[in-house]
Amino acid sequence: MPRKIILDVDTGSDDAVAIMSAILSPDVQLEALCSVAGNKEIEYTTENTLRVVQLLKADVPVYRGAKYPLVKFLCPDRLPEDEHLEVVHDGKVVQMHSDYLDIPEAKIKEQPISAAEFYVKYLREAKEPVTLVAVGPLTNLALAFRIDPTIVKNIEEIVIMGGGYNITNCTPTAEFNIWYDPEAAEIVINSGAKVTLVPLDATHAACITLDDCKRFRALNTVAGKFIAELCEQRIIVHNATQPLDVPDAAAVHDALCIAYLIDPTVLKDVRHVHCNVGFRDFCEGQTILDMRYFTEPANCWFAFDGDRFKFADILCDLAAKSEPLAE
Ligand code: RIB
Ligand code: CA
Repeated sequence: MPRKIILDVDTGSDDAVAIMSAILSPDVQLEALCSVAGNKEIEYTTENTLRVVQLLKADVPVYRGAKYPLVKFLCPDRLPEDEHLEVVHDGKVVQMHSDYLDIPEAKIKEQPISAAEFYVKYLREAKEPVTLVAVGPLTNLALAFRIDPTIVKNIEEIVIMGGGYNITNCTPTAEFNIWYDPEAAEIVINSGAKVTLVPLDATHAACITLDDCKRFRALNTVAGKFIAELCEQRIIVHNATQPLDVPDAAAVHDALCIAYLIDPTVLKDVRHVHCNVGFRDFCEGQTILDMRYFTEPANCWFAFDGDRFKFADILCDLAAKSEPLAE
C-alpha cells in the first residue's frame, strides 16, 4: 500500500525535485501540497508549486500557506541571514532558487482554504494516519498545532528537512528552514508526533553529481530533464558558495526526505536524540542536540549521514517513470 503523505514546500529548486519524486513514486500517495514562504515569498512558492504539478499533469490539490513566520519579523533584534553571494556562470547570474521555475506558467489554481485550515480539517477527519513531510519553514504545521494540538493523533510521522549538527548554511549555527521560523520548528518538534529530521549532515553526504545528472538526462523523460536542470543549477551554486566533499555535486535536500520514505536506508547513522531550537542571538535557528550521556528525553530521530549512491538510484528510477519528452 502506498504511504499517504502531505508535502509542505517553499518551492524552490530542491522542493521541485521532492514534489516530482512524490508524484512519481508508487510507494507514495501525495494527498496534498501546502506552500509556505521561505526560499521566496508565498506568491512565488505557491506559483512554482502549481507549475510542477501542472508539468507532471498530476491531480494534487495545492493549499497556499503562511506569508510570514510566526513571530520572527516582529523582533527587530533577530539576526539577518548572511548575504547570498551572487554567482555568475557563463555570463549569467545563477541562483540556488530562481523567483520562478523555468517551466510553463501555471494555469491550474490553488484551493480556496489556507494550508493551516486544510491541515486541521484533513487531520480531524482522517480515517487513517498520514505522514507529513515538511521541506520548508514549519510555519503552517505550527499554526495547525496551535489551532488544534489533538490533530497529532492522526499523524504517523513528521519528516522534516531541517537542521544541522556539523553543517549549517544560512548562519554559522543554523540551517535555513529552521532559522526562518525557529519558534514554529520548536512547536512541531515537540508536538508529540514521531519526528525525523533530515539535516544538512545527511543531505550534504547524499549529494547528487554531474554524472548523476547525465543519467537523468539520458532517460529522455520530462522529469529526468527537469531534475537534471535543477541539480546542475544547484551544482554551479554549491561549487561557488558551499563546495561539498564530492566534486561537482549538490545537496538536493528536500528530495532526500521522499527518498527516505521509499528506502529508509538512504539515511545513515540515524539516532534518537533530544533537540531544542535556539531562538536568539548566535544560536537563533540552531538545532541544539543534547548528546550527553544523561540527556533530556529524546524527541526526534536525527540522521547524521546519507547514502548518495542509493539516493541517485532512487531519483533515476523515479525520473524514468515520468512521461517521455516530446520528440
Ligand atoms: O537549508 C535547505 C533548505 O532550505 C531546503 O529545504 C531549501 O529548499 C530551503 O528551503
Ligand atoms: Ca525547501
